[in-house]
Amino acid sequence: MSEAFQSFNPGDKIAGHEDLDFGESKVVMVCVQGHEVEAILVKTEEGYLSYVNRCRHLAVPLDWGDGDVLDESGNLFLCRTHGALFRLKDGFCVSGPCQGQSLFAVPIAVEKDGIYLAEPDSAN
Ligand code: FES
Repeated sequence: MSEAFQSFNPGDKIAGHEDLDFGESKVVMVCVQGHEVEAILVKTEEGYLSYVNRCRHLAVPLDWGDGDVLDESGNLFLCRTHGALFRLKDGFCVSGPCQGQSLFAVPIAVEKDGIYLAEPDSAN
């Protein structure tokens, strides 16, 4: 099965440390609490972060199917539909029609050999 169509379950490794450089993001399918959703995984200087790839304005992905979820600076998530901007560290919308709302976090666990999808109450 190719990675593009693979859905990860809690406990599955979703990426290796070598898969992302700092400032890079990746979109993967994950199963969270029984629901299959697209997740954004981004590697920052402060660590890995993951959110559901769904804008808080309308229920659409931030990207246009190409995994491009960061703005030009690489410091904010950008919704391509209407331009909402979200902080990387907490998914909080700082500009746009859903200002003040936050992306939904996806639980991950960072281990020596990579990043794993975690159970909702066990993320680190
Ligand atoms: S759908 Fe994301 S800002 Fe409107």
